[in-house]
Amino acid sequence: MKYTTDYLREKWIAFWREKDHTILPSASVIPDNDPTALFHNSGMHPLVPFLMGEDHPEGKRLANAQKCIRTGDIDEVGDAVHLTFFEMLGNWSLGDYKKEDQIRWSYEFLTDEKWLGLDPEKLAVSVFAGDDDAPRDEEAAKVWQSCGIAPERIAYLGKADNWWAKGDIGPCGPDSEMFYWTGDKPAPENFQETHDDEHWVEIWNDVFMEFNRTEKGALESLPQKNIDTGMGLERTVAVLNGLQSVYQTYAFALILEKIADLAGKPELAKNPIAKTPEANSARIIADHLRSATVMIGDSIIPSNTDQGYILRRLIRRAIRHARKLGIQGSENESFGFCNSIAKTVIKKLSPYYPGLKTKESFILEELNREEAQFLKTLEKGEKEFEKLVSSLSRHPEFISGSPKSCSSSEIPKQVRNDKREGVIAGSDAFNLYETYGFPLEMTMELAEEKQLTVDEDGFYKAQELHQQKSRAGAEKKFSGGLGDKSEETVKLHTATHLLHAALRKVLGEHVEQRGSNITPERLRFDFSHEEKMTPEQITEVEKLVNDAIQADVPITKKEMTVEEAKQSGAIGLFEHKYGDKVKVYSMGDLSKEICGGPHVEHTGQLGSFKIKKEQASSRGVRRIKAVVGN
Ligand code: SER
Repeated sequence: MKYTTDYLREKWIAFWREKDHTILPSASVIPDNDPTALFHNSGMHPLVPFLMGEDHPEGKRLANAQKCIRTGDIDEVGDAVHLTFFEMLGNWSLGDYKKEDQIRWSYEFLTDEKWLGLDPEKLAVSVFAGDDDAPRDEEAAKVWQSCGIAPERIAYLGKADNWWAKGDIGPCGPDSEMFYWTGDKPAPENFQETHDDEHWVEIWNDVFMEFNRTEKGALESLPQKNIDTGMGLERTVAVLNGLQSVYQTYAFALILEKIADLAGKPELAKNPIAKTPEANSARIIADHLRSATVMIGDSIIPSNTDQGYILRRLIRRAIRHARKLGIQGSENESFGFCNSIAKTVIKKLSPYYPGLKTKESFILEELNREEAQFLKTLEKGEKEFEKLVSSLSRHPEFISGSPKSCSSSEIPKQVRNDKREGVIAGSDAFNLYETYGFPLEMTMELAEEKQLTVDEDGFYKAQELHQQKSRAGAEKKFSGGLGDKSEETVKLHTATHLLHAALRKVLGEHVEQRGSNITPERLRFDFSHEEKMTPEQITEVEKLVNDAIQADVPITKKEMTVEEAKQSGAIGLFEHKYGDKVKVYSMGDLSKEICGGPHVEHTGQLGSFKIKKEQASSRGVRRIKAVVGN
């Protein structure tokens, strides 16, 4: 194979270095200045402020390979072309060199023997056809021709093809795309007429990013004329080698071999583009765990929100497909499947993305943890799902609510005869999510395999109801105070406030309440903190609380709005709505906290305070048990 991802990346970097560009390291996959996106999805994404006119510290000529994640097509991964993680090669001129230089260099990089050495006979380009926003790009066409591209190999296309915009608002401009002929027959002469032929494959896009689309939809000129170009690494490598799929390139070879090995099915590596369900599973695993490895390398950890949720979906989907291939360990423990794939990914990518190597143990640990957690419930969840399916196929009309017994003669005919009518109720899908950790999308995929669908709206309704209930629970705790109002319990409640404040003083402001439970015998307080507390820290916290008790300060209560409470520096649950009135309890200058009460009148009533136990509660959460007494 002449072209590999490593080869193309190296050539790219060397070429732009030779043209006086600074080679930037890839930014993290998480955007740090774009709240509208979960991931960087193109090479220019991290550079938006600089394309808009800000000075870049590394100068006006930049290039790199950027880690990108696109999750819009997760469900299509497994076919030949879709990837959730890919690398994008890019070069940029921030108001420096112009269209003419860029086109000349593009031609040089593609055709010169020193670089890619592609046959010019197999190349074609498109340029912007022109409209009210920007003129027909005769300038670009002229430069292409002067490089050696025949006029017939230049197509003039409209906005749908030759205009690139980051989104509805933001930098944009006309572009010129380069195409490579992948057919067996010689490339057709006339590109305007044949550009839709699937054998013409786009390999590179030069964007002349000169405009900004404002929120009102108006187009304004940017302070500088930029160049922004992008080449999808894996895809271009496949195209240049005459392959049908990215999964046939070396980027995936080792990963697929590993999967084939674990599954004991060598054909999965030998024919990565087979149209069998098993080959599909292997491709899904390879793609998803490659993404997951990169994401964790950028410090994302599996969770139920945002990037963490996407990561969780990818890992869990990969594990489910691994089981379809017969790769599985014992229940309740990680069997290191994700780890073995991740190690291969790290080996392949870390020479260019060294962070993957430095973070290797973190990545492996997180994958193991997620794998173990999912395996605990996966089998039971699968059984639960099967039960649901069989109840639906017996009674396809039970699309929501609880099944009631009914004879088949009561089932409407059109439902009885049509299995596709079967819909898994939203509440059942939510139960699979909440109890067994099945992401909604996974339940939908399982359902589809059985020709069923899932009531998605119902799922979100069930989720909303659940959230309302837990919010109500939190508010009850918050406003209703203690269930048991015995003297001892109230004392321990006051001690909890002092403890919370002392922990923040000794350990830091990251300490937040994660849970509290009080019985007349002891208090139990869960809080966010990563490490075990040292004996010195425990002594210091005890001392702070005991000092406050010794000082015997009065405990005062004030009602105010949430905003006023926040401003006064009070800590506590801030889940209340704007304008809500809350009670704030102050205890000397140690503690000020929003709380429903009740509390003792002055701190001296507690007598003394002692921590009995400090231990882990869950990940990133510590638990203290403590007592008060005279
Ligand atoms: N921004 C363009 C793209 O993503 C060129 O980099 O294709």
